[in-house]
Amino acid sequence: MNATTGPGAAADDLTGTTAIVTGASRGFGRGVAAALAAAGAHVVGVARTGAGLDELRDELGDTFTAVTADAGDPATASRLIDEYPPRTLVLCAGAPPRMSPLSDQTWESFSQNWNVDVAQAFHWIRQALRRPLAAGSSVIAFSSGAAVNGSPLSGGYAGAKATIRFITSYAAIESQRAGLGITFISVLPQLTPATDLGAKAVAAYAEREGLDVDAFVKQRGPVLTPDHVGKAVLELATAEHRGHGAYLLSSAGLSPLA
Ligand SMILES: NC(=O)c1ccc[n+]([C@@H]2O[C@H](COP(=O)([O-])OP(=O)(O)OC[C@H]3O[C@@H](n4cnc5c(N)ncnc54)[C@H](OP(=O)(O)O)[C@@H]3O)[C@@H](O)[C@H]2O)c1
Repeated sequence: MNATTGPGAAADDLTGTTAIVTGASRGFGRGVAAALAAAGAHVVGVARTGAGLDELRDELGDTFTAVTADAGDPATASRLIDEYPPRTLVLCAGAPPRMSPLSDQTWESFSQNWNVDVAQAFHWIRQALRRPLAAGSSVIAFSSGAAVNGSPLSGGYAGAKATIRFITSYAAIESQRAGLGITFISVLPQLTPATDLGAKAVAAYAEREGLDVDAFVKQRGPVLTPDHVGKAVLELATAEHRGHGAYLLSSAGLSPLA
């Protein structure tokens, strides 16, 4: 039996397990927190501001614990992993990149996603290996489709997200070598206007192409929503024989990357 389910439980059942979701107060993280809670997990949601977390707590009730903290701080990672040992750890928090061409970036703006998103992946994943998390646990880190395609209007964002994919794959190797039984997966969502972060990026790329936002969105096909993302993460967290790896994520679902 793995740590996900008891004998005879449904394949998408996380009853009796704990999940930590960073960036849970809005956007994708909120969709993930709701999906994992609906599958029976006790969800510990992390963000820096409390209002969105409080709203989610009102919606999900006792299945949700709100923690106001900086997910890029190593002390947050070690404290929360010790306090709430997760069966499912979802690293979804991310800084909104400054949307401007390279020539208008400063080193500070260019490196923002390294100091938040990459720092988060490094500290939490390192802690997951060192503690280590229980066999059967999974760690799901948010990279981006930009890690494959680049993102010329968002400074260091695409490189930072590519590094998250690398960190996750390095951790998978260490887990296998040490026989830890922890699965490490990265998810690369497509750009979507359905979240605060994505809406700013969509507006910048629409303007660059001389299109209004609706026309730009329409030409890219069906929109990825936080509900789709929650469903996909639940699928990864509960798959019977899931492997390490990286997955592109669109409104049509997950597709594994070679
Ligand atoms: N939306 C897209 O099109 C898209 C595409 C590909 C990948 N992604 C990735 O998907 C993830 C979620 O993006 P999203 O679009 O849902 O963004 P979002 O709507 O802006 O939500 C970001 C979440 O992260 C939290 N957060 C930011 N910095 C934090 C920090 N230092 N510590 C703790 N929490 C922090 C925010 O809460 P506070 O501000 O209160 O801390 C919020 O809950 C990000 O990693 C993003 O790069 C998004």
